[in-house]
Amino acid sequence: MNPSARPRVFSGIQPTGSPHLGNYLGALRNWVRLQDDHDAYYCIVDLHAMTMPWSPAELHARTLETSASLLSVGIDPEASVLFLQSHVPEHVELSWVLTCIARMGELRRMIQFKERSKGEGESVGVGLFAYPVLQAADVLLYRAHRVPVGEDQRQHIELMRDLAERFNAQFGDTLVVPEAYIRGPGARIMALDDPTQKMSKSAGRPTASILLTDDPGQITKKLKSAKTDSGTQVRAGEDKPELTNLLSIFSLVTGEPTESLEGRFQGRGYGDFKAQLAEAVAAHLTPLRERYEAALADPGELERILATGAKRASEVAADTMADVREAVGLRRPQA
Ligand code: TYM
Repeated sequence: MNPSARPRVFSGIQPTGSPHLGNYLGALRNWVRLQDDHDAYYCIVDLHAMTMPWSPAELHARTLETSASLLSVGIDPEASVLFLQSHVPEHVELSWVLTCIARMGELRRMIQFKERSKGEGESVGVGLFAYPVLQAADVLLYRAHRVPVGEDQRQHIELMRDLAERFNAQFGDTLVVPEAYIRGPGARIMALDDPTQKMSKSAGRPTASILLTDDPGQITKKLKSAKTDSGTQVRAGEDKPELTNLLSIFSLVTGEPTESLEGRFQGRGYGDFKAQLAEAVAAHLTPLRERYEAALADPGELERILATGAKRASEVAADTMADVREAVGLRRPQA
């Protein structure tokens, strides 16, 4: 298909090093699926990583690790444009323009901001507050139609739609209003040690999440200690959030429907179930871990992929920004 006739997709991930199983099942798997019939832009959002306190050395290293992880899950740098946010300065420029039409009230309502700023009072960072505006700029810069993300990003996508509509109403039709692409039971994978919270690395509890780079030993250990209720029945249901989450993971990594798993584990107890689940997760992740290690062993190639991606992304970004500058009344430099 002619690439320009295909719908465009954009998504981003923070450079935390190895993604966790939630990132993978909620978002990255869809990124891979969509790259075949979409014009795909996938971005490692290193500037977003600076909205919480950070170590420069860690940011530097984690960015390359995250790039290797994206290749390991199947992002094909020929089929997709894979790049770093900071390599395309237009993200920041558009972010400023959008900041000037965004409202304090709408940013204050963001759930992620409320959660991350808890207890910070007046010392909460301005970057954290403006985070969703930069995220809006990421997507709007590419005039993307779809944004494959997990459920936790729905509100941020709503905000970027509002900003695009407001911009177009005020300055003329310039930006595409994107849609969230949130699919399936993987869209909200919960923490292994607390089914009321989403799986996340920022919780700082290693047993909450499985990383794509975990080896079979680590996977078994984490799943063995995963929280379960005091019953014995392996079944999904509103009254059994822990088992529901574990069954979803089992089903997503094997392709076996939840009902079939429930039948298979009837009367067999949690210990047996967790052991088999660990085996299935390890079998699924082992080839990813191997590809990750191979990719990371060749940093020169990773840098080359990111540089090519930045060049391709910059072409689109420059185009959109030229239209935005004109629309809002900024003057071009005259020779
Ligand atoms: P991040 O880096 O936290 O997560 C990357 C992707 O993984 C999804 N995800 C989950 N899905 C299911 N279950 C979970 N427990 C889970 N945890 C995370 C996220 O929804 C996301 O799709 N703000 C974004 C990054 C970003 C972005 C963008 C995304 C910046 N600019 C533009 C889309 C478009 C974030 O922090 O994702």
